[in-house]
Amino acid sequence: MTKPHEFPHDFKGKVAMITGASSGIGLAVAEAIACYGAHTVFISRSGATAIVSNLNALGQSALSISCDVSDETQVKEAIATILQKYQRIDILINNAAINQVAKIEDISLEDWNKVMATNLTSQFLCCKHIVPIMKQQRHGKIINVSSIAGNFRSKISGIHYVASKAGVIGFTRQLAYELAPFQINVNAICPSQTYTPMLAATLPPEAEQKLIDSIPLGRIASMEEQVNVILFLASQLSSYMTGAIVDVNGGQL
Ligand SMILES: NC(=O)c1ccc[n+]([C@@H]2O[C@H](COP(=O)([O-])OP(=O)(O)OC[C@H]3O[C@@H](n4cnc5c(N)ncnc54)[C@H](O)[C@@H]3O)[C@@H](O)[C@H]2O)c1
Repeated sequence: MTKPHEFPHDFKGKVAMITGASSGIGLAVAEAIACYGAHTVFISRSGATAIVSNLNALGQSALSISCDVSDETQVKEAIATILQKYQRIDILINNAAINQVAKIEDISLEDWNKVMATNLTSQFLCCKHIVPIMKQQRHGKIINVSSIAGNFRSKISGIHYVASKAGVIGFTRQLAYELAPFQINVNAICPSQTYTPMLAATLPPEAEQKLIDSIPLGRIASMEEQVNVILFLASQLSSYMTGAIVDVNGGQL
């Protein structure tokens, strides 16, 4: 694990919950926030115990909770565990998602519902049960991970993924409006293709160069380039931003 670059931050002592924190962007952002001194809760289906043990051994405060974020009972239990240990939640990063590549006629209703439940309903569930805590605190930072697919369209993914990510954008704008009186910031990030396990599973190797050639910055994003923007949105540096849909896409829109 590489220690992140110096970043103006205020994460010390904050409690941060990151979903989908066992791989890709979620893991990278959770590790970074833990390194900056937050009590960091890694939420993932199978748990991130080895990663968290390593961080704990380095003196960082991290906790792993197994939770399927599309299951309301598990979400409520996870939040109760966090509250019992830390008594507050300052930062929520709704990052967990699944992707499928398929044409509309090949998508079963079951697949459609699974993608919606994982990518959009999960964000509703986490927010629904954390918002009352943040309202009481009169403070909170919520970052929802959408996608260029939701803000424009996708060159790779199925329409269910695209629709779920477009849903995240509407969800973010409305929740930001609802929560602004409580000094809770809600923003979304729309990454474009980024080198993670999800991209490796969906982008055929023969399509990589064609994709790179179509990106104005001439390259696929690194995880760190997405993580840095999420850190900014989770920090007080973005205190006057709410309801923003932030493109991190190498100039593709
Ligand atoms: N990688 C890209 O090219 C790209 C582009 C645009 C947007 N995104 C978005 O960025 C976010 C992170 O993607 P990534 O590329 O790091 O993907 P990834 O597949 O590496 O990580 C996704 C994580 O979500 C977890 N997850 C899936 N379903 C879950 C569930 N029901 N409960 C709990 N955890 C669950 C997975 O286990 C995994 O840890 C996603 O929201 C994705 O849609 C990624």
